[in-house]
This record gives sequence, structure tokens and C-alpha cells, in this order.
Amino acid sequence: MPPTAEDPHAARLRLHRLDTADARAAFARDTSDGLSASPKQLFPKYFYDELGSELFDAICLVPEYYLTRAENEILACHAAEIAAAAAAPDDAPLSLLELGSGSATKTRRIIEAVLKRQTSLLYLPVDISVSALETSARALLQSYPALSIEAYASDYDAALAHFGRERGRERGGRLLALFLGSNIGNFDRDGAGQFLHALRAVLRDGDALLLGADLKKDRATLEAAYDDALGVTAAFNLNQLVRLNREFDADFDPRAFRHVAVYHEAAGRVEIYIESRQAQVVSLPKLDLEISFAEGERVHTENSYKYDREGLDALAAHTGFACTHRWTDAAGRFSSNLFVAR
Ligand code: AVI
Repeated sequence: MPPTAEDPHAARLRLHRLDTADARAAFARDTSDGLSASPKQLFPKYFYDELGSELFDAICLVPEYYLTRAENEILACHAAEIAAAAAAPDDAPLSLLELGSGSATKTRRIIEAVLKRQTSLLYLPVDISVSALETSARALLQSYPALSIEAYASDYDAALAHFGRERGRERGGRLLALFLGSNIGNFDRDGAGQFLHALRAVLRDGDALLLGADLKKDRATLEAAYDDALGVTAAFNLNQLVRLNREFDADFDPRAFRHVAVYHEAAGRVEIYIESRQAQVVSLPKLDLEISFAEGERVHTENSYKYDREGLDALAAHTGFACTHRWTDAAGRFSSNLFVAR
């Protein structure tokens, strides 16, 4: 793409859309199956339409959602150490692959630390939201003239399959994969293992993964983080219904539902639901569906798993990594873990 007056950075940006053909059919199938199941469920990857991505950015600013600030604190203090620990012994250039890059705000710390060690940097962000990818890529290119970006609009599975096929191609230097912000927490324990195995398969020995993981803590702090007083998390959750109205002509009244977040301590996860305030029937004509809700009936929309140090070490060991470094914020709420592929 040659640079133009409107977009002077175009030569340093390539945007790939990996899964658009199947994505709509999969969304329709998942919605239909999920709302017909007992108990009902919707899937967290569908939170992130344009408004959902913006609402998630707003969640990261609410006082109760400490995760983003804690991870930012870690990256602000330790980005140089992270870049040094991920570098090859011969200082061959490092590239960055980020899964679930979103607005890529925290990534800036790592980009800046790497650019202090080398003259140019290739950044490969993957995100389900094309709008988030485009906006963040252009902002990064504006800030960092030595950066080039290959962006992938894709879910994780399609992206890892793509990078797996590319693995044979010669790529100089090391890769540092970033999976920040407790995204790992949105997988159940088995799913987290499978995901890291799949990621390990696209890395070479010595490549590394910086894994953000929220740590187990008291119920009150966790439940407040997922049910903030301003109602931003509630809006993020209920926006799934607004998306179903738009995409499938459904007639959900978001006011007839409420957001619920509960910490299930034995399972180490915050469970998020949409609860029906009344008995009601909702139709989704494009899916040929009518769904009845009892008063108080819940639709499960997301889990957010919390980790302890032993769990993180075990996760690394089971998936072909060694956890060589761990940093936490001063209050010990959140962890950034360097998993080295071995
Ligand atoms: C994207 N993910 C790491 C967030 C979390 O903390 O599990 C999603 C979220 N859901 C509600 N609040 C934040």
C-alpha cells in the first residue's frame, strides 16, 4: 500500500481478514445453540462489536477494574527487563505477536522498550474487532516511525492456524508473543491449556510469551471489578443483546434484563450472567427462533478465571514452556509471567 496524503503510514501497515466468510455463520450457529441450551449461554468473543470494544476500553478506566492499572504499573516498571529477557543471546531482532490486541495501549510500553534495543520492529496484532485493529494500528504507526504492522482481524483459532502454516517460512530473530490483560482468564482451565499448546506450536524454542494473569483475591474486590458502580460492565454485558437485535432482528429489551457477576471461589472464577427481570418471550426472526425466559433465568455470558502462582507454573510446564520470570504490581493483585518455549 503506497502512502497517501490521507494515510501517510499505509506503507507500514498490512491488514489481513482471516475468517470473515465463516464468522457470521458461526455467530448465528453459536447464538442459536446457546440460547436453545439449558442453561442458556452466549459466548464472550461476541462482546466485541464496535460498541463492545469501546465499552471494554471504558471498563479499563473504571475505578473498580484494577486489572488494567495493575498490569500497566508492571509494564511501566519492568518493560526493559521483559524486552531483555525475551531477546536472543545474539541480539537478533525481536518481533511482537499480540493476541487480543484491542486498543494496544499497554503494548506501547513493550514496543518502546524493544525499540531501545533495536532500530526497527515488526508488530503482529490479532483482534476480532476490525475497528479496534485499524484505530490502534494507525495510532501506533503515528507514534513510532520505526514500527511496521501486519494486523490480523481474526479469532484466536484462525490466527494460530494461520501462523502454524507460516511457521516453516524463515523468519529471522525471536518472537515475543503477548497475551495481556487477563485474556487467559476467559478460557476454562482445560481451554487455557489447549490454547497455550496451540500457541506453543507456532513458537520456536527460545521464543517467549508474556502472559498477563489476574491473581485470586477476596470476593468483594473481584465482584466489584466485574460490577462497577457506574454500570459500564453492565452495559458491556447487555450490549450482547443490542448486537443480537441489530444482527438478527431480535427484539430484546435490554431494560428487561440485568447484569450479574458472582465469584465462585471453589472454581476460582468470576461468573457473568444476563438475568431476565421477568417472564418474557424474545424472537430472533433471522435465526427462526423464539426464546422463552422465566423470571430470574440467567444466560451465562463469560467466566473470568483467577490464578495463583502454583497454577501458573503448572500451566507453563504442561504446555511446553518454563515460567522464567514473574512480575507483580506493588499491591500483588496482578501478574505478568514470562513463559519461555523450551
Ligand atoms: C477481556 N477480559 C480479560 C476481561 C476480563 O477481565 O475477564 C473481560 C471483562 N468482562 C467484564 N469485565 C471485563
